Amino acid sequence: KCPIYITRHGESMHNLRGLIGGDSDLSPNGRAYGQALADFIHSEQFHEDDVDELTVWTSTLRRTIETASYLNIPTVQWRALIEIQVGICEDMTYADIEERYPAEWAARKRDKLRYRYPQGESYMDVVQRVEPVIFELERMQAPVLLIVHRAVARCLLSYFADYDQHDIPHLEVPLHTLLKLEPKAYGCDIKTHKLDI
Ligand code: F6P
Repeated sequence: KCPIYITRHGESMHNLRGLIGGDSDLSPNGRAYGQALADFIHSEQFHEDDVDELTVWTSTLRRTIETASYLNIPTVQWRALIEIQVGICEDMTYADIEERYPAEWAARKRDKLRYRYPQGESYMDVVQRVEPVIFELERMQAPVLLIVHRAVARCLLSYFADYDQHDIPHLEVPLHTLLKLEPKAYGCDIKTHKLDI
């Protein structure tokens, strides 16, 4: 079984401003992460058999494609890997949402897994949406690096590590960190590489 690598895109301008949703570009720090990720993947620390056969999968959002652009590795873009759609909360901060839509804010706090943003998605929706990507990943005979988003990374991680669904929306998946998942009979081993930028 091949390892699966998962990382979030580098810091985006929206991340920097505390805004959710959108399709923003990388920040200067985010671009530095793209370079640090490329350096790491092409370094001796990275398993050399892995890098020769590696393919990179991104979403169709700019911040993932831009992060991948530093790597010089064949890339496939999946619409099914875009970030959780936040509907009416697009381009808002969490504080804006709490102030403008207090009932929505409270509903999400009560059940973050099932809460669906008006005109948007819930974590359960994302779990379903990424399923075809997971099926494809499981058929792959070569390692794949997924450059994705916070909610999508949480869903993928919980599938492969066999975590309880209720934990999905609360999993820690920090920026600028590469996860290596090595499948085992049940679940997988996870190694974490925090990359300095
Ligand atoms: O802040 C980055 C981000 O990817 C948003 O675009 C997204 O709405 C959010 O994280 C998902 O995290 P949470 O479900 O904890 O709000």
